Amino acid sequence: MLPPAFYPASTPAVFSRADFGPDFQWGVAAAAYQTEGAWNTDGKGPSIWDEFVRRKGKIKRGESGEVATDFYHRWPRDLGCINQMGIENFRFSVAWSRVLPEGIGNVNQKGIDFYSRLVDGCLERGITPWLTLYHWDLPAALQRRGGWANRSVVGWFTDYAQRMAAALGDRVQHWMVLNEPMAFTGAGHLLGLHAPGRRSLGAFLAATHHAALAQSEGGRALRASLPASAQIGTTFSGAHITPWRPGLVRDERAARRADALLNRLFLEPVLGLGYPVADVPLLGRLEQYMQPGDEARLPFDFDFLGVQNYTREVVRHAWYVPLLWAALVGAGRRGVPATAMGWEVYPESIYHLLNRAGSYPNAPRLLVTENGAAFPDQVNPPGQVCDVARQAFLQACIGQVLRARQEGVRVDGYFAWSLTDNFEWAEGYAPRFGLVHVDYATQQRTIKDSGHWYGRFLGGEQVRF
Ligand code: NOJ
Repeated sequence: MLPPAFYPASTPAVFSRADFGPDFQWGVAAAAYQTEGAWNTDGKGPSIWDEFVRRKGKIKRGESGEVATDFYHRWPRDLGCINQMGIENFRFSVAWSRVLPEGIGNVNQKGIDFYSRLVDGCLERGITPWLTLYHWDLPAALQRRGGWANRSVVGWFTDYAQRMAAALGDRVQHWMVLNEPMAFTGAGHLLGLHAPGRRSLGAFLAATHHAALAQSEGGRALRASLPASAQIGTTFSGAHITPWRPGLVRDERAARRADALLNRLFLEPVLGLGYPVADVPLLGRLEQYMQPGDEARLPFDFDFLGVQNYTREVVRHAWYVPLLWAALVGAGRRGVPATAMGWEVYPESIYHLLNRAGSYPNAPRLLVTENGAAFPDQVNPPGQVCDVARQAFLQACIGQVLRARQEGVRVDGYFAWSLTDNFEWAEGYAPRFGLVHVDYATQQRTIKDSGHWYGRFLGGEQVRF
């Protein structure tokens, strides 16, 4: 029996796909570095992740994405799984250094050809491709010039965006500019946990401003290069945030600061509200990186915004965290049910986030572009993978998306993370998020029970809570 956290009472008691309406888009998501492998095949240049994984102690068990799920060679099989589950939309990302080995300059035609085949492969199978331009794998050559901390990255990125639009814009209708900028700036530049492994407040602030500019300028570059019918979005990480000790003013304030940093930092500039400096004075230092005219360049009218959610965060005042004075209180410490990532099982988080994002007066429509959970799977020999917890988690979260929608939030899509198990960044291969199990020794794919359930749900089967 799963603990009650999997079954929030606020979830609609009975629901089915039909309750979301005929235009709601259902999909599954993945990302280049986590799946492709083939890290130096067919002229691909190295990315910051190819270099970061070689640094001692950075990745659990010394694992890397050099082979990953070998999606580069096995994508037809994986698209077959998508078909088998009856999923209509597939979100994937392009590895920038596969198409531009140096990040700028010469195009690697074989890289373009790969994504072109992948897109055609989707279309032939009736799967709509959703393309993310940047899911954390900056070309290593650009890191040598400072990477996201160098303002030139905005121009490098928009050039890359234009080239991708020129190559695939005739067939790809749905585009996303950045994946979770807060994650790659924060974990990559402040905490040193992700590539490029920097731990510098200056690098973080510079990367933040440049990523925020790349977000809007990337959107503009796509709009200028794509047919008018193209749908252009970008994605944000988010977590519903609550104070550790509700009513205690210093925890409440800490929660507000954490919320501004984790949930609002990249969202509000896009909506024309600037950085949330009033709530996080530290962000006043972004000023140093701003040039005349930047403020006007930060907003962009995206066709949709992608909300990505996995858990909630509980925050307390922390005297030992300089400048932010806030810290997360983990699920372990609180003794609440958690996923294999140690993240609290809290399906209502997605409801709160959608409500929040949807309540900005000029917010465009929303899509959940990632949601899922890692749990240990029970692999039974004759092709069955039992993953009751994942299925329950997805059902609860989808129910919470419906709850938001029924209350009037403009959310019209949901993508489960992830298509297959894959390389979970610094955590390596141990946490498994897939609807499809991967046996890394043989690269064999097995659709998990949760994947079969998702397929039946998309086919019309009811969920009863
Ligand atoms: C969000 C990221 O976009 C994705 O790459 C990652 O695997 C999931 N979170 C799970 O941590």
